[in-house]
Amino acid sequence: MSKNNSTVSTEPYKGVRDFYPEDMAIQNHIFSVWKKTAERFGYTEYNASILEPAELYKAKTSEEIVNEQTYTFIDRGDREVTLRPEMTPTVARMVAGRRRDLGFPLRWFSIPNVFRYERPQRGRLREHWQLNVDMFGLASTDADIELITVAYEIMKNFGAKNSDFIIKVSSRKLMNAVFGTWYELDEAQSKALQRHMDKKSKMPEEVFYIEAEKIVGKPFKFLNLSHTSSQYEEAMAFPAIREAKEELDLVLAELKARGVTNVEYDENIIRGFDYYTGTVFEVFDTDPANNRSLFGGGRYDNLMKLFGDESLPAFGFGMGDVTIRDFLETHGLLPASVSSTEVMVCIMDESCKAYAEEVANGLRSNNTNVAVNYSYKNISDQTKAARKLSIPKVIIIGENEAKTKTYTIKDLPETE
Ligand code: HAM
Repeated sequence: MSKNNSTVSTEPYKGVRDFYPEDMAIQNHIFSVWKKTAERFGYTEYNASILEPAELYKAKTSEEIVNEQTYTFIDRGDREVTLRPEMTPTVARMVAGRRRDLGFPLRWFSIPNVFRYERPQRGRLREHWQLNVDMFGLASTDADIELITVAYEIMKNFGAKNSDFIIKVSSRKLMNAVFGTWYELDEAQSKALQRHMDKKSKMPEEVFYIEAEKIVGKPFKFLNLSHTSSQYEEAMAFPAIREAKEELDLVLAELKARGVTNVEYDENIIRGFDYYTGTVFEVFDTDPANNRSLFGGGRYDNLMKLFGDESLPAFGFGMGDVTIRDFLETHGLLPASVSSTEVMVCIMDESCKAYAEEVANGLRSNNTNVAVNYSYKNISDQTKAARKLSIPKVIIIGENEAKTKTYTIKDLPETE
């Protein structure tokens, strides 16, 4: 917003961020942990443009994200264009486009920036970067287990302990079975109830139950499917419920056997998108100071049908940089801010410039990142500048050094 007609604000557009070098250092750290972990599990990187035809998101959906949160515009050729609000339709489009040539199971990852017109608040912005890790072509729960393990390993590689986060797992298949057989809902009611449940944490309890009763047509009570529940045996008598619950129990047991012990079934986990078909999961921070969902994903076996293809099993998750940064901050896991510049060469006066450059170039050819300070200010000003720039070392070149062709590297204390 401009202060008056002649000046332009230095603030970025609402809900997006500038990345000053210290923020970029954190961003690079987050991306590097994401990339290393995904590659360690055999996932390879892909990318695409942020621009997509709007129809990619509009087809077969009535979702809030498409109707209320996309940035869509008409281009000069009259095409309706959308800035991608997520990567899943894009990756499905790319896989469908080359389906005959690709080897399956296919493991892909990407770190795209995505755009959503949301009300900016803690953990929610209008542009964020989102790691997407997806596997295509494996229908068995081995895919579910591997992807949740990758998510877990990323958290561990950030330095998190099992007690710092919890992985809550549920199943759309189970939900559909319960809604269809136990509550006897038709498909429209079932979808409406899922959408309503997805917003449960954002409303008072009473409001949730009043609305749920309207959708279901009778008083709504959650079916408790824990093994100790009095309704357990009765519910398990329905084959669809039994099959889905056994599948979910298997995923949980296998994860625990692999050391992922901070995992639990939570029937409140729905996930916003319509395309999920099986296991869904969401990871939460356990610290009360940052008690929120960090990221999530799930199985989506039917998205490929959007492109007229046969369905193709798929499982993946999306992890945003905003929520993960808040998590790292809350748990004291952010790396100390250090510049990628390792040394600043400070020159006492212009007569020493040639030798200073010789020293800098010698170090550069030895793979050291060096900046030369050509201000010719006094040395204390120059070292102050190095400290402000988070450069950890300085070399001071004066007449003496130039004459004897020597130099010493001095470590700078972090604070004065
Ligand atoms: P999503 O839950 O909408 O799923 O987003 C995934 C993650 O992106 C969130 O859990 C959060 O970390 C981050 N995120 C989402 N919206 C925002 C926002 N406005 N500001 C900051 N961070 C945000 C998906 O997008 C699915 N496509 C993920 C997926 C991949 N499922 C399968 N494969």
